[in-house]
Amino acid sequence: MSNPLTVTHSVDADGIGWITFDDPASRANVFNPPTQAALRAAIEALATQPVKAVVVISGKEKIFIAGADLKWLGKIGSAAEGKQASRDGQALFGSLDAFKVPVVCAIHGACAGGGYEIALACHWRVASEAKETVIGLPEVGIGLIPGWGGCARLPRLVGTKSAIDHILKAQLLPAVEAHKAGLVDEIVPAAELKARAKAAALKLAASGKPGRPANLAVDAAFFGDQRKTALSRMRGQPAPLAVLDAVEKGVSLPLDAALELEATLFGEVSAGEVAHNMVHVFFLKDAVKKLTVDAWFPKPATPAAPAPFKKIGVIGAGVMGSGIAQWCAARGYSVVMRDVKPEFVERGMTVIKGLFDEAAKRGKMSADAAAQGYGRVLGTTDLAPLADCDLVVEAIVENVAAKQALMAELSAVVRADCVLASNTSALPIEELAATATNPGRTIGIHFFNPVSRMPLIEMVLSPHTTRDTADRVLAFAKHLGKTPVICKSSPGFLVTRALFFYLNEACLLWEQGVPTDALDKAMRDWGWPMGPMRLIDEVGVDVTDFIYGEMKHYYPQRFASATVCSRMLAAGMKGRKNGASTGFYTYEGGKEQLNPAMAQFASGAVKQMDAKAIQEHLNGVMIAETKRVLDEGVLKTADDADFALLMGTGFPAFRGGLMRYAKSKGLY
Ligand code: NAI
Repeated sequence: MSNPLTVTHSVDADGIGWITFDDPASRANVFNPPTQAALRAAIEALATQPVKAVVVISGKEKIFIAGADLKWLGKIGSAAEGKQASRDGQALFGSLDAFKVPVVCAIHGACAGGGYEIALACHWRVASEAKETVIGLPEVGIGLIPGWGGCARLPRLVGTKSAIDHILKAQLLPAVEAHKAGLVDEIVPAAELKARAKAAALKLAASGKPGRPANLAVDAAFFGDQRKTALSRMRGQPAPLAVLDAVEKGVSLPLDAALELEATLFGEVSAGEVAHNMVHVFFLKDAVKKLTVDAWFPKPATPAAPAPFKKIGVIGAGVMGSGIAQWCAARGYSVVMRDVKPEFVERGMTVIKGLFDEAAKRGKMSADAAAQGYGRVLGTTDLAPLADCDLVVEAIVENVAAKQALMAELSAVVRADCVLASNTSALPIEELAATATNPGRTIGIHFFNPVSRMPLIEMVLSPHTTRDTADRVLAFAKHLGKTPVICKSSPGFLVTRALFFYLNEACLLWEQGVPTDALDKAMRDWGWPMGPMRLIDEVGVDVTDFIYGEMKHYYPQRFASATVCSRMLAAGMKGRKNGASTGFYTYEGGKEQLNPAMAQFASGAVKQMDAKAIQEHLNGVMIAETKRVLDEGVLKTADDADFALLMGTGFPAFRGGLMRYAKSKGLY
């Protein structure tokens, strides 16, 4: 139903008409049929009044228009329906372009997708330089193409090459960058936006709508090269190719015909499985913001906000310990990182310094903020500085006895209310925490490597973990900017278990004679970012072999461990880890090549297996193991499993999630 207040209109004393988006029922403005109806009514009403110019603006503090309502777009059932939705939006925005007087768009806050396409249909764009102002066309990131004029209008504004670059990157740009790229015409301080937009409107009212001579010509090879890149980088996704079609053909057509072509392509893409999958993944990610521990614990009689952690202890200054310490310090926590020898502490501190330097170099934080972050980490061999920590995360060697000894040691040092967490990638928390004096305050916080880039945390509840502990850790994980999934303690939780059953199965096929490149190519072609053998090199042959041992120990009936990794290790081949460059591949001079030395571990048999059979077999193993994880109640829902595998293993988003895929094939 149309809510007339969603978009309102008025005319001020100077003859400027205002169209204001401010949905009273939501924190955001989004486009859906009711908003469109309200906009149409506002445009029609202003058209009957003697205005000099019009300004489109939002009444929200942080959002201009966040785009189209994905709940609506995600349900488009046919190409014809999608095409009509595209045409309707184009016609509506087109009525602004065709307005009898100039129309200025005043942008403050997120201006994404359809939110930017309305701006494109205006004659002038003024943006606030506030940090919340981010602008652009991210549709390709959710499997769609800009379908309300974006593909047709952006090249005409910024030129063909820049338009392709922007649409295919699918990223929102801060106002300053959007201005540099030509997406907006002016940037102004947020406090002046309204006045400056009005000034621009009055100026255009006097001078007329501006001409936009854009450079639409590109060299002959441009689109061919773009298609090749899209096919290799965005395998399996129709949207990038549809964008290239829409723009390549669209720039040589009159605008109306370019819009019609865009509508046809939008219709096809929006009704497809990939777009539905990617919109589904968008919602899986979005749901994390609202995640609570309610599914795991009875509701408390008097709910209280969890006490936040302030000081964090990290035990172990190795790969994971230094990564965790750096990430916590970067998010403002004071951190004590402890290892057993000064040289190990020093090595960890050097890694942390390097991570801060890199973050500053990449513009993720200022040099000052990086120096302050580094200053928040105390490296030590002492246990004493842990005494006033609110949370201690251990990341020492993956060994039950060592971790148990540490838990006992820590219990004697920390405050009674301190939470003790393990970063173990597979060991049951209750086993490690058997020596802790307060098992209710123990939990697993499984970060992934590298911590600064991997968003997932498996938050692992032992049978003893209390609700208070879980609440506090969940709030901490969210404050770290990570995306947590909650699991019941069980060997390998979900990600380690599903992934290493899969990798082991690939090794078993390899041992039967299926070539490395056949295995890797098949899985890459299916959509995985890298094949299993290449992934083993990346994770480390040592880590892989170790986890195979753990899986064999905990799942002796079902885990038939391949032996190739232990034989590689015995020959000193560790993969690509820590400067090592020999595994299933060699990486000398940065060049990746099949490693001929692998022949020594092969049986001599050659097994031909076509890509489809490899894909079905290996994905099938992962599906079967994930199904068991769900049957055992380690996770609450198949969506949780899909989310964890998407964030923790690089499962291809365009497939929508492992179990969603399994369901679509009748395998679950
Ligand atoms: P690592 O071998 O790089 O570092 C372990 C560090 O712990 C070493 O510096 C060692 O000196 C130190 N250490 C051992 N006993 C200690 C003690 N009692 N007190 C203080 N320090 C002690 O190991 P990594 O790779 O960082 O793994 C640590 C933990 O994280 C393991 O449980 C592992 O399973 C888990 N993990 C590892 C991932 C990876 O990709 N490396 C990913 C996710 C979890």
